[in-house]
Amino acid sequence: MVKSTSLLATLPSDLERDRLPRHVAVIMDGNGRWAKQQGMPRVMGHRRGVDSLRDLLRCCKDWGIPALTAYAFSTENWGRPSHEVDFLMTLFEQVLRRELAEMMAENVRIRFVGNLDALPPSLQAEISRSMNDTKNNQDVEFTVATNYGGRQEIIQACRAIAQKVQQGQISLDQIDENLFEQHLYTSGLSNPDLLIRTSGEMRISNFLLWQMAYSEIYVTQTAWPDFDREAFHQALLNYQTRDRRFGKVKN
Ligand code: FPP
Repeated sequence: MVKSTSLLATLPSDLERDRLPRHVAVIMDGNGRWAKQQGMPRVMGHRRGVDSLRDLLRCCKDWGIPALTAYAFSTENWGRPSHEVDFLMTLFEQVLRRELAEMMAENVRIRFVGNLDALPPSLQAEISRSMNDTKNNQDVEFTVATNYGGRQEIIQACRAIAQKVQQGQISLDQIDENLFEQHLYTSGLSNPDLLIRTSGEMRISNFLLWQMAYSEIYVTQTAWPDFDREAFHQALLNYQTRDRRFGKVKN
């Protein structure tokens, strides 16, 4: 079933346009539990989760939020039963193939972050194609974390920087936060203002560890397949009550 996008097509009037997050990150949790509750196999929750993600992406475009990052597959998710891992890899590939034309039409740029070399070659090919075809699109920057782990990302950045020091390309005192960020997968992307996690768990599960130093965290009990525009509206209303001080005191 495809969800209706006609509801809340424009920004709800109780949200302040100039105080919207510029970058929203999502941990799409609860697919398996949702499916079980419906008496369906776990993987059907992932299939339904794609609809939620597609609508959230459209919603970001409709409401003027320029960046969305979704945690699709963590480095730890390889430990799931092989049929579920295989299902997810095939699903990513199918979705990419199916949605590319729509992303072009909606002016969405898609980017994948993570250790992509370990993904099935046919998926890697779809990833390259979609990233290349959409690279000049500008309305929404859509980042999909796949085979992603925050610690692993930090280690690969350290290695890349150490190698440059070893080769004499940079000196030790040139290493600062700015240079470090340039070596993360997310180089060039702003840090998330808001992290939304569905399905109730209060943890960040190795997601964007560096980038989320000052992100506001919103956890909802709603399972990812049920996360719709109204649920997003509630998350944004909550975000707009937050007092973001970034470690400083108020004047
Ligand atoms: C977590 O729910 C969800 C995932 C590990 C997969 C999420 C992936 C999608 C929704 C597909 C996205 C597709 C593209 C192309 C980006 P869970 O299985 O951990 O749920 P549970 O906690 O109830 O077991």
